[in-house]
Formats: sequence, C-alpha cells, structure tokens
Amino acid sequence: MKDRRLGIRGWIYGGKHNPERFLYTLHRLTGVLLVLYLSVHILVVGSRAFGQEAWEGAMRLVGLGNPVVRFFEYLLVVVVLFHAVNGARLILGELGFTIGRPRRPIYPYPKESIRKPRPLLWILMILAAVYLAFAAYNFFALPA
Ligand code: HEM
Repeated sequence: MKDRRLGIRGWIYGGKHNPERFLYTLHRLTGVLLVLYLSVHILVVGSRAFGQEAWEGAMRLVGLGNPVVRFFEYLLVVVVLFHAVNGARLILGELGFTIGRPRRPIYPYPKESIRKPRPLLWILMILAAVYLAFAAYNFFALPA
C-alpha cells in the first residue's frame, strides 16, 4: 500500500510507463499551464478597459510581434490542442464508448480497458501531430 502513495512523484513515475500513463501526466501538466495562461490572458485583455494607452502598454509588456513570444504562442497552440484532443479521448472513455463490455474475469485477465481504446489514442495523436505541422507552417513559414 505504501508504494501507492507517490505524491507529486506520481505525476511522472507511476510504476507503469505505458502511453496512457504518459498522456495522463501531459494532460495534468497542460491543464495547469492552461489555468496559468488564462489567468494572465484575462489580466492582459482586461487592460483594454483602462483605455488605449493601457492596452498598448500591456501589448508592449507581453512583447507582441517578438519572434520568441511568437514561438511561445505556437507552444500555446500545442498545449491547447493536446489538452482538447486528449480530453475528448478521456470523455469518450469515461462515457464508456471505447472500453468495451465488461466480461467475466477469467485468468489470464485480458487488459481490455487499455487494449480496446488504444487505436483511438494513436489515431487522435497522429491527427493532432498533422494539425500541429500545419499550424507550424502557418506560424513560421507564412508572412505574419
Ligand atoms: C477543449 C477544451 C477542453 C477539454 C475537452 C478538456 C477536457 C478535460 C478532461 C476530460 C479532463 C479530466 C481528465 C481526467 O478524467 O482525468 C480535464 C482536466 C483538466 N482540465 Fe481540461 N479540458 C478543456 C479545456 C481546459 C481549459 C481551458 C483549462 C484551463 C483553464 C483546463 C484545465 C484542466 C485542468 C487543470 C484539469 C485537471 C487535470 C488533472 O487533474 O489531472 N481544461 N480536461
């Protein structure tokens, strides 16, 4: 029982390193990043309520147009897309669409709940990667 109490280490190391475990860590990490980003985003956009000057000051502060900031904007697309696509996968699983019907547990127990939804995992991640390749082209190859 003791080894199950991993605390924050459990975000990275869970005893098993299957793809689902890895996506769990990434989902939590991207969720926390989104909360942080949205907090800053609301403050920055809210500056518009204090007039044109405050808005332009906020835009200068966040470095709008700076190539490094542009790169971080692209990373934001990566974070949002991953969280949304993986979130859709989790919702489908949690609603029971991808895990199959429960069966009588006969030894050796099949890992149905992991094996069945796994193709969906790869399909969604490949779709996300294709989208991110287009987004990278849009961000970095096309004129701003
Ligand atoms: C397309 C929109 C989104 C979808 C489909 C989505 C989906 C999900 C799902 C299904 C979970 C639960 C994961 C689980 O079952 O363990 C979750 C967790 C979470 N989401 Fe989202 N989400 C979205 C947008 C956001 C946004 C905008 C934020 C930030 C403001 C956010 C922050 C979080 C956080 C912090 C968690 C908890 C992560 C954890 O406990 O491991 N999500 N999301």
